[in-house]
Formats: sequence, C-alpha cells, structure tokens
Amino acid sequence: MIQKYVYGKPFSTEAVVTEVAAGEGTPAYGRIETEQGFCFTYIMEETDIVYGLGEANRGLNKRGYCYISDCTDDPNHTEDKRSLYGAHNFIVVSGKETFGLFFDYPSAMTFDIGYTRMDTLQVSCAESDLNLFVIDGGSPYDIVKQFRKIIGRSYIPPKFAFGFGQSRWGYKTKEDFRKVADGYRENNIPLDMVYMDIDYMQDFKDFTLNEKNFPDFPEFVQEMKDKNLRLIPIIDAGVKIEDGYDVYEEGVKNRYFCQREDGSDFVAAVWPGDTHFPDVLNDEARAWFGDKYRILTDQGIEGFWNDMNEPAIFYSPEGIEELKGLLKHFLENDDHNSGVNAGTLAVAPTSDTNDSAEQDIDSGASIWPLMGKIGGLANSKEDYRRFYHIVNGEKIRHDKVHNLFGYYMTRAAGEAFERIDPEKRFLMFSRSSYIGMHRYGGIWMGDNKSWWSHILLNLKMLPSLNMCGFLYTGADLGGFGADTTRDLLLRWLALGVFTPLMRDHAAAGTRDQECYQFEDLDDFRHVVGVRYRLIPYLYSEYMKAALNDDLYFKPLAFVYPEDSMAVQVEDQMMLGNEIMIAPVYTQNARGRYVYLPEEMKFVKFLPDGSISEEVLGKGHHYVEIALNEVPMFIRSGKCVPVAEAAEYVDALDTEHLTMLGYAGSEYTLYEDDGVGKEYEKEENYRTLKY
Ligand code: NOJ
Repeated sequence: MIQKYVYGKPFSTEAVVTEVAAGEGTPAYGRIETEQGFCFTYIMEETDIVYGLGEANRGLNKRGYCYISDCTDDPNHTEDKRSLYGAHNFIVVSGKETFGLFFDYPSAMTFDIGYTRMDTLQVSCAESDLNLFVIDGGSPYDIVKQFRKIIGRSYIPPKFAFGFGQSRWGYKTKEDFRKVADGYRENNIPLDMVYMDIDYMQDFKDFTLNEKNFPDFPEFVQEMKDKNLRLIPIIDAGVKIEDGYDVYEEGVKNRYFCQREDGSDFVAAVWPGDTHFPDVLNDEARAWFGDKYRILTDQGIEGFWNDMNEPAIFYSPEGIEELKGLLKHFLENDDHNSGVNAGTLAVAPTSDTNDSAEQDIDSGASIWPLMGKIGGLANSKEDYRRFYHIVNGEKIRHDKVHNLFGYYMTRAAGEAFERIDPEKRFLMFSRSSYIGMHRYGGIWMGDNKSWWSHILLNLKMLPSLNMCGFLYTGADLGGFGADTTRDLLLRWLALGVFTPLMRDHAAAGTRDQECYQFEDLDDFRHVVGVRYRLIPYLYSEYMKAALNDDLYFKPLAFVYPEDSMAVQVEDQMMLGNEIMIAPVYTQNARGRYVYLPEEMKFVKFLPDGSISEEVLGKGHHYVEIALNEVPMFIRSGKCVPVAEAAEYVDALDTEHLTMLGYAGSEYTLYEDDGVGKEYEKEENYRTLKY
C-alpha cells in the first residue's frame, strides 16, 4: 500500500506517474517536523538495514554515513564524498518495521543514516515543500516493486546497446575512430559501438561536427555501420555563445535559455568557454532542444550520451569578478609570511567553502581565501542561485530545482525521439539524473578511477540503481581517471559482462585502454566474447525486469530474506531469476570467497571456449578464478541459455542456444526484434528446455 503526504507547495517533478491515494493524518513511521524546513526522524533498531539512494557512495546497506542528494560533477569518488551525479531519494528501511519512503523534492536533501547518531535516520531539506510517499509491504523487495510501479516503466534501449562499446575522451578524427574499429575487428574482439566524446564537435558546439574532420558525416556513419559499428556521440548541457551558431541564436531569440534575475541569459563556462543552459524545465524550450537531436539522427545516428548536465559549471563571469576582488586585496596587502590562522586553514582548500573563504577576507591577506575561491569557482552553490527557469510562466530559481536538470535534459531527448521515430528505440544515457529520468534513458556512473576499490563501489551501486528504476546502467570499465592496468581492466570487464551498459571509457591523458592495447589479446577476446554468449539471457532478463517493473540486479537479501548470512552480503548480486554474480575485485587475487545461500552450480567460462560446471553446496567457499575466466553461479534447479560468441549483436545466432545449469529445468526466453516497441507480443516468449 502506498500513501502520499503533501507538505507545503511541492514542485511537480513528474517522478511519479500514477495516482496515489492521500495518506490520512501523519505517516505511520517516524516523526516529521516542518517548522524549520522539513525533517523526518526515525529511530532504527540495531539490525535494521537501509536500502536505496540509487547512485550513491559506500555500501548497499546505506547505514553509517551521511549522503546528500545534490547532483554534483565530482570526478573524485572517494569514500568521504556525500554527493555524486544523481539524486535518487528513495529508501527502504528493513527490519522490525519494514517500509519505503520516497521524498519527492528537487533541491538538496540530506540523508543522515546513522551518521550523527548511529541509531537515528534523519532526512532533511531546507524547505517544507515536498511530496512524501510512504510504502508498506511484506518485504523490502515487495516495497521496491510497488515503488517501481508508481514511477513508470524503465527505459528500454535497442538491443545493439547490449553489445560492447569503446570510448575515449580524445578521439578526434576519422582515423582515430577507424583505428578503434580496426583494432577490434582485426583482432576479432567483439564490438558494437564506438563513442564520440566532445572532440567530434566543432569547437565543442552541441549538434555540430568538426568541419575539417567530418565534412561528410553521413558517409562516415555508414562506413562504420558497414563494419557493424554504431557511432554514439556525446551531447553536453551548455550551448556555446557564438554569433552565427544557429542553436545559440535561436535560443537567445526565443528566450529558451536560463536567465538571471534581471532577465539576461545566464552565462556559465564549460568546455566551449562561455555557454548558456537550455531551460529544459520549460516545455517549449525542452521541445526545441530535443528537436536538435534530429540534426544527428538525420545523419544516421541512433544513440547518444548526455553529459555535464548537473549542470556542471567551471566558472561564471560573476565568480571571476569576485575572484578578481580577492586577488586585488591579496596583491595590495600581501603578507604571506603572517601565518595561517586555524579558521582560514580549515576552509581553504575545499571546493564548496568559497562563501566562508570570502568572509575571511578581512582576516589578513592570507593566500588561503584566494585558493579557496579558485577551488570553489567550479560548480559553486552561488552560481546555482544566479539563474532561473520559467516553468508554466513562473520564475523558479535554479537551486530550488537543481536535481532535475539532467532528468529534463534527457527527457528533452526522449520526448524528441518519440517525435523523430515513434516506432524505434534509441540509445540514451545520461550522467546526471533524478527518479523519473529512468523512463527516458539510462545512466553511467560517471568519472570513476582506475582503482580496484571502484570495481566494488560500482558493483554495490547496481541493485540500488535498479531499485530507483535505472536498469540500463554500467560504469566506465577499466576506470575513467588514472592509468589502468591489464589485470584491472580484465577483472572490470568480467563484471561488465553482466551490466546492461558495457563500455570501456577513459579520460584524456590516461594510458591507452582499448582492449587491443594490451598483451595476450586472446584473453580480452574471450572475456568480451562471454558477454556476447550471454546476451540472449541478459537481454531476456533485462526485458522481463523492465516490462514487469522488476529488478535486474537484486541484493541476495531480496531472494533469501530468511538467511541472516545472505542478508549481509554486499559483494555478490543476484542477476535476473537464475544467476548470481561474484566478480573478483582484488589485485593479484586468484579467486575469492563466496557465500552460497543454497546449492548452486559454479560456472566458469574458460579461455579455450569451454565451460566448467561444479555443484557447490550451501555455505562458504573459496573459488579459484583466473584472470582470463568469467565466473557466475546458476541457482539450484534453474538453467540459462548460452549462444556462440559473435562479433556484434546482430550476428548472434539465437536459434541455436545451448543450456547451462540444472538438467530437467526450463527457461522462458524473451526475444524481440531489438529495435521496435512491440514488447507485449506473445511470440516474444519461448520456452527452452534443458
Ligand atoms: C565528463 C564525463 O564524465 C566524461 O565521461 C567525458 O569524457 C568528459 N566529460 C569529456 O567530455
């Protein structure tokens, strides 16, 4: 049962798409205060578990830290971070009392989950204007499914998007892309997509192509398609300010950009230099921006990734002016030997303390306030208060709806795709998101690093994201920032084999990271090949999860709630209805410990193409997994279909599937054309017997 409680005047985020009955009185759980902002307080039992928060730091059980839903462009996902790119305000408390809560509030919201006091869950925000959905159910899994029903069906990508993709920030010319295509094709490592990062554009202008490098883009798109590869360009949130650039000029003329309080168009510097942000919260502006994707779909493009849509701001002219003021003060009163008082030191080097840094201006001409200001120029809270959206004629300051920008930018694209070709699926995923965006696209997990700890962080996020509707997701395999290593990439790929989005992506300036850059390519051909062997099953489970508002990745606790050991496992996940995954995420490890809540078949895809199977009983096991092997576990009494590897999705032979797992069992395979939207047809399902 779901009940809706309305506080103040909530902004309509359109996260929830079905009617929900109004709750009577006050919610059955916790205490709510609305005098100073909004605050929900609940005292937790010692063993209560808290699930949810989608794209967030730390564990699957969110207890023990403080998280802030405040979409942030931060490429350093260290353990201390409270905000990442998404704002997914759904949690489930599981324990003596079990209930779900969705706080539909589009500005910053704090989830103190046993941080200030270990027994206290406190959810708070600055203004008491929100919808609170309270969900009762028999189990956390049941609650999640009810929640998923009210937020609408998750985005369904085209089937090619289940193939492997190669990306790198820095591919510029046709030659760069051909090198990637050939690197994969000549070495017979499967590949379906090559991603185009910002350098394909002319001067980083959205919906343009570099004139020198891509004078005949449609031919180039076709050249790649002839190799069975799709190009997937990036689109950024900021529109470059440049006379003669039609997107800029139309936006200015029609007042489609976010404005300052005085009505002038707000300026934010991002990759192209000064830009304006399309006011995607405004229906007309959103339709206009969305229609721009047609410029590229008309040239044969079938998928995109939306970036920098928190929206990220490197600096604003206002921020620069303030910096100049501080600099002037520093230069006129230079006293760098005067020492640093504790107060200034405390605020100096962090990025979000520029307000405090300014207050310290009179405490001497220390360099620290200046450093703080420079560090705080990017993504400053001050800037988010400097611009406005026009929503149904009403002017709304950006910070009040900050967490919706990425959602509405992606919605712009999703709605436009419906106009461009309503019969066809397009690939779309975004960096920033809010619940509701899951209907229009997936997300990738942003700028992780080539660190072993990030394999685990990414793994733990998967079920949490699914709970919030984001099924099409994955991380930058190999790691985005920092230099990868061959073993790290192989182990990460062995997790990526199972994530719907499987993409290798790396930052400019880092070591080459394409699979063919490393020695013993056979291992990469094999590991990526396993993904293709499993696509019939993975796609089928994805589609069932999407069509039934269900989870593709589940915590073990959702399947074995009575097993107190399983309930605590955070580094193994259930996938679909048949398998459990347990990737290796430790350097130099030759295997790992696993806990089996029931008897399972331990399956390994071996580098010679064969598959080993071993029945393991319920309990703890150490399993050996070499660097070039892909492990998975099949649940007792179940089976999964496996295809022969293929070099691209369209080449998969799904008629001749072999079964793995327990003989005598059956599997219902979902299969459709992978392009259109006739999901409900009966012939999409067929029973496979083992
Ligand atoms: C930030 C994104 O997170 C990253 O994936 C991309 O490569 C860079 N922007 C450059 O576009």
